[in-house]
Amino acid sequence: MRIVITGVPGTGKTTIAKKLAQLLNLPYISLTEEARKLGATFECDVEELKKALSLPSSFVLEGHLACEFAIPSDLCIVLRCAPPLLKERLKERGYSEEKIEENVMAEALDYCTQRARLFYKRVEEVETAGRSEDEVLKIILEILKGKKGEEVDYGEWLLRRVINEGKKVSGSSAFHEQQET
Ligand SMILES: Nc1ncnc2c1ncn2[C@@H]1O[C@H](COP(=O)(O)OP(=O)(O)OP(=O)(O)O)[C@@H](O)[C@H]1O
Ligand SMILES: [Mg+2]
Repeated sequence: MRIVITGVPGTGKTTIAKKLAQLLNLPYISLTEEARKLGATFECDVEELKKALSLPSSFVLEGHLACEFAIPSDLCIVLRCAPPLLKERLKERGYSEEKIEENVMAEALDYCTQRARLFYKRVEEVETAGRSEDEVLKIILEILKGKKGEEVDYGEWLLRRVINEGKKVSGSSAFHEQQET
């Protein structure tokens, strides 16, 4: 069994993949670690990483980079986390405002799911917000038995966010000045 777990930073990939690997008695592989060993980074070297990656016949592999190229596997799980909670998790890590915003928007826009669907035959989403780690693991085990994952959709949150940003812009003096000239 070859399982890939991907998702935006903070969605729980490392936490869940380690537990799943232990539960299924499969080797755990961190793609981020592999990339580091190979000297690859997201910006420069996804192709290099793809070429250099050497994997065993069974594994639980996790990393956000896994949604950027096809890793030969049987299943790709995309862990999701509702934007307000993801924001909290990333704040706790001490991420900058900019980095938090980038990751929260990537999550709201289903970035990892969309990318993963380009590269993997079977992609299943699992929401982690409002669930314990054990509940998430239980859902993944059901998926491994053939059950479908979830259709995660933060469209409503995104729409509210865009409307609120629009209100802020139209209420600002810069906008009124522009309108008057
Ligand atoms: N149901 C859950 N599933 C997974 N993680 C959870 C859950 N509930 C709370 N958490 C917490 O969320 C955090 C997720 O962090 P983790 O390092 O596993 O994320 P990650 O996706 O590997 O991030 P990165 O891409 O930066 O490596 C952990 O502190 C974990 O305890
Ligand atoms: Mg991690």
